[in-house]
Amino acid sequence: MRTINICNLKGGVAKTTTSINLACNLAEMGKRVLLVDNDKQANSSQFFDRHSYEAPGIAEVLTGKAAIQEAVQQTEFPHLDILPANMNLLAADKEILMDETVPQHEHLKRALAFVDGQYDFAIIDNAPDVSMSVINALTAGDDYIVPVKIDRFTFDGVDIMVDTANQVRDNYNPRLNFCGCIITSYRFNDVNRTGAAYLANSQYKMFQTKIHWTPKVDEASFVGKPLREYSPRSWAAKNYREMAEEYLEMIQEAK
Ligand SMILES: Nc1ncnc2c1ncn2[C@@H]1O[C@H](COP(=O)(O)OP(=O)(O)OP(=O)(O)O)[C@@H](O)[C@H]1O
Ligand SMILES: [Mg+2]
Repeated sequence: MRTINICNLKGGVAKTTTSINLACNLAEMGKRVLLVDNDKQANSSQFFDRHSYEAPGIAEVLTGKAAIQEAVQQTEFPHLDILPANMNLLAADKEILMDETVPQHEHLKRALAFVDGQYDFAIIDNAPDVSMSVINALTAGDDYIVPVKIDRFTFDGVDIMVDTANQVRDNYNPRLNFCGCIITSYRFNDVNRTGAAYLANSQYKMFQTKIHWTPKVDEASFVGKPLREYSPRSWAAKNYREMAEEYLEMIQEAK
């Protein structure tokens, strides 16, 4: 199993949209995918209609109250399962900090090891912060991808995210690989053109694919469908397909 973090400290940059569409596209290609909702906002869980307080989720897994196998649920899509989240993740984060029996950063890595053979990919949809659960996700990861939406504050977010990931790589997880930033909600205007050119010339690796802005993304989230089903001919559906292919080529070349 290869574990991919979708992360950015900045909110609203399409981490969840990217996690969902990458997960659905890889599953559609026949890969066995586990989507890990690592955000107390639980947007990925809500998207797949798997948000609840009745069943165990990532909070209970991180704190050892449930086994990951009990908490994972199937989605309506073939080959795609989800480890759901809810607000309990807030308390779980604090509990991890106090528990001295397991290294604080290793809870998720240890849990994912139990389902290693069952999936080709785990995709972690992270919260927009550097909580202990995000550090856990980076420690468990093979790869990380940083979605960016271009505005005045884009660049600070990327700097802090990459610094944080570098610290995790240096201290806990030497195999953590930066796949690059991917521009989301791209529009044909001066701000986006200038921002994209700036990023292309920056020190940061970029995906060639850009995800274009389309009202279909909001619409698709209301009906809980990935873009390839809701609006297969939209730019963003095409872009997310290209992104999945670009990612697969990238990891193939690295082998
Ligand atoms: N390509 C796109 N075109 C149009 N709207 C988009 C696109 N991508 C994302 N959005 C919209 O932008 C908003 C934020 O997206 P999303 O929830 O995926 O971001 P996020 O980074 O996960 O946010 P958070 O930090 O709160 O977890 C949503 O309303 C989503 O529908
Ligand atoms: Mg999100």
